[in-house]
Amino acid sequence: MTQTIGLPREIKDGERRVALDPSAVKMLVHSGLVALVEKGAGLGSGFKDQDYALVGARIVDTAAEVWSADLVCKVKEPQPSEWAYLRPGLQLFAYLHLAAGPALAEALANSGVEAYAFETLTWPKGLPLLAPMSEIAGRAAAIVGAFHLAEGSGTLLGGAAGAPPARVVVIGMGVVGTMAARGARGMDAEVTGVDVDLERLLEVHERGIVTSTLYSNHHNVGEAVVNADLVVGAALVTGARAPVVVTKDQVESMRPGSVIVDLAIDQGGCVETSRPTSLSNPTYVEAGVIHYCVTNVPGQYPRTSSRALSAAVIPRLIDLAKDPNSERIAGSLNVSHGKVVHPAVIASLRGDYQTAID
Ligand SMILES: NC(=O)c1ccc[n+]([C@@H]2O[C@H](COP(=O)([O-])OP(=O)(O)OC[C@H]3O[C@@H](n4cnc5c(N)ncnc54)[C@H](O)[C@@H]3O)[C@@H](O)[C@H]2O)c1
Repeated sequence: MTQTIGLPREIKDGERRVALDPSAVKMLVHSGLVALVEKGAGLGSGFKDQDYALVGARIVDTAAEVWSADLVCKVKEPQPSEWAYLRPGLQLFAYLHLAAGPALAEALANSGVEAYAFETLTWPKGLPLLAPMSEIAGRAAAIVGAFHLAEGSGTLLGGAAGAPPARVVVIGMGVVGTMAARGARGMDAEVTGVDVDLERLLEVHERGIVTSTLYSNHHNVGEAVVNADLVVGAALVTGARAPVVVTKDQVESMRPGSVIVDLAIDQGGCVETSRPTSLSNPTYVEAGVIHYCVTNVPGQYPRTSSRALSAAVIPRLIDLAKDPNSERIAGSLNVSHGKVVHPAVIASLRGDYQTAID
């Protein structure tokens, strides 16, 4: 049975979150587990080593020591410099997004690690470990979109007397899309919600979260984005590579200086011209359109994000440590005994990385 839980310091570019705050580590210790916390792991979120020590954690100096635990719980997928720590029998619990990361899938499978992904856990319903970060990323989308529109076409979301508001198109009205739409509506933009789920569209329309809705197909999306100032990408099919909803020619039809914030980029992106960017270098321009495709947006709000993530993760982490077959972690196992085992991830990786799934 699992006895030690490792909490590493995150090393992805610009990442300041930590997977567990001191209150969650206290719960771990109370449940009889040993918590190894890497020195400085919580600093980016305002949690000192002493805060963790006071609740019973053992502070360790190096990444190697923390990765020697039975189970490592972290925020972002292991970075290439961390792959050397992966080993047979180690349990890993983190955001993995393997459908968009064939090289990482291969590294995990070859290492023999048992890898559980936050983003595909489905118990008791929905995606409870993705939702808190989606909420934050969605709120951030409206802020970064508004910011980059200023440097692009110079359009203010809410307009002014005699000047129309900006047109915002949100692709995928799940958690991210809803929060992005609320943010943009809060700044008085015109917001069109696009989804394949008509019930969801009815709900967001009735609640006044969007000004109009559109069924997601190639034709409708083309008509919407040609006039858009800001497009937010937030379409997801759980575990799978994101559907490409906005094609390259549709991006080319947009006005110069308009903005795309593609948050679905962690699953490969739902805009054909999207490619991953980082918090330190978040945008690039293609076809005259500013693209913001940061894969770890909540990392720039580490205090809020770490507390929200920690609250969602801690009960499931204890479940996983006590019983890896628990129904409470259903859907999260992505890599086991040298193979990718999650059906949607397998389907997305087919062709990219055959040996991990055969
Ligand atoms: N970049 C970041 O930092 C960051 C942070 C959090 C979440 N995300 C990502 O944002 C994406 C959305 O997450 P979520 O929690 O909102 O998911 P969700 O499951 O709540 O919502 C996804 C929505 O997409 C819709 N959808 C599916 N196929 C579609 C299509 N072809 N056209 C239009 N809509 C379609 C679904 O019906 C659903 O309403 C995910 O890829 C998630 O990993 C990114």
